[in-house]
Amino acid sequence: MSEINVNLADRSYPIVVEKGAISRLAKRWHSLDLGTNVAIITNPSLVNLYANKLKTGLEREGAKCHILTFEPGESHKTLASVAELLDTLLALKFERIDTIIALGGGIVGDVAGFVASIYLRGIHLIQCPTTLLAQVDASIGGKTGVNHPTGKNLIGSFYQPLMVISDTDTLSSLSKRELLCGLAEVVKYGFIRDVALFDYMYEHAASIRELNVTKDASIWEHLVTRSAANKADVVSQDERESGLRETLNLGHTFAHGIEAATHYTVYLHGEAVAIGMRLAADLAVLMGELAASDRDKMIQIMTLLGFDLSLEKRLSESLLPYFYQDKKVRHGKLRFVLPTGIGSTTVRKDVSEDLLRAVLSSVV
Ligand SMILES: NC(=O)c1ccc[n+]([C@@H]2O[C@H](COP(=O)([O-])OP(=O)(O)OC[C@H]3O[C@@H](n4cnc5c(N)ncnc54)[C@H](O)[C@@H]3O)[C@@H](O)[C@H]2O)c1
Repeated sequence: MSEINVNLADRSYPIVVEKGAISRLAKRWHSLDLGTNVAIITNPSLVNLYANKLKTGLEREGAKCHILTFEPGESHKTLASVAELLDTLLALKFERIDTIIALGGGIVGDVAGFVASIYLRGIHLIQCPTTLLAQVDASIGGKTGVNHPTGKNLIGSFYQPLMVISDTDTLSSLSKRELLCGLAEVVKYGFIRDVALFDYMYEHAASIRELNVTKDASIWEHLVTRSAANKADVVSQDERESGLRETLNLGHTFAHGIEAATHYTVYLHGEAVAIGMRLAADLAVLMGELAASDRDKMIQIMTLLGFDLSLEKRLSESLLPYFYQDKKVRHGKLRFVLPTGIGSTTVRKDVSEDLLRAVLSSVV
């Protein structure tokens, strides 16, 4: 069991990473003093897997528990889902002292977090992430929100949870593809700020690439804990993304371009992030920011872990315009987080289109 703290003065909170953490949350419910009513917001497929058990546990401790669901997928990460959830909470007469538990992946966390931030101007929120991506990234740091027809995550708020409960047992029901996607964000922490994590992944690459969280439980618990600690540290220093937090976007400008150019139907986010980190490393070498030997190490570890870093020529040639849709664009200028070594980064605002074309035309 590990407990990590996000340090934000009076809004500080713990992240618990532990096998069986969800059952233990229920057992200590009465000591938490978080109201009588609890809404577990989740996806329908997670009701039988995890939500019912949590509900039974909470009710045993005296809570009145309701399970609220919305359909999975980015197309349901909308204001319409938020409105429906708010209607239900109002009908159930939830009060400000009551609690929302977000039980699911990053989409559930973002939607339920947003609902918690605006219902009665903010009620208690507990994040219980059940995907690797949500445990290592999305549930930590208070970014909540929904998509708009004109773009992803355009509407939202910063709203910190009271705690994050990461039960690593839940990862065992995830598909291998989803696990690998979350792993891209773990690799990212190694690249941007944690050399020890990079070395650990290198050492355990053969086991990690099997994506067997039951057999290699201690390895996966270590990956989640180290990643959560990195995210917590970054958020503690830069909650509103005015500097350090931007480094978490390594590879993401490229990734968002790849996802948008393929209409979000071909690549999952983590798959695009892995390719994006490869492109960022290539760009960094071209700009003299990164030694080619470090770029090769980055590509090698991602390949060892099972990522496919190839990009179809036709797709790579079509990407450039999509980069300008990125939220990091300032006054029409692109900003790229680039690696400067294993464990360090810089932000460059002077990347020419010619350089980008050169990088994109060199990938195979
Ligand atoms: N708030 C942030 O800081 C932040 C950071 C990164 C990503 N995000 C957001 O996170 C979202 C992606 O999250 P995700 O990758 O977790 O995907 P997701 O939330 O779409 O979940 C993927 C699928 O797995 C299912 N699922 C969840 N847990 C499961 C489990 N334990 N076993 C079996 N199935 C399970 C879900 O129902 C869903 O169908 C994106 O919308 C992205 O914008 C937010």
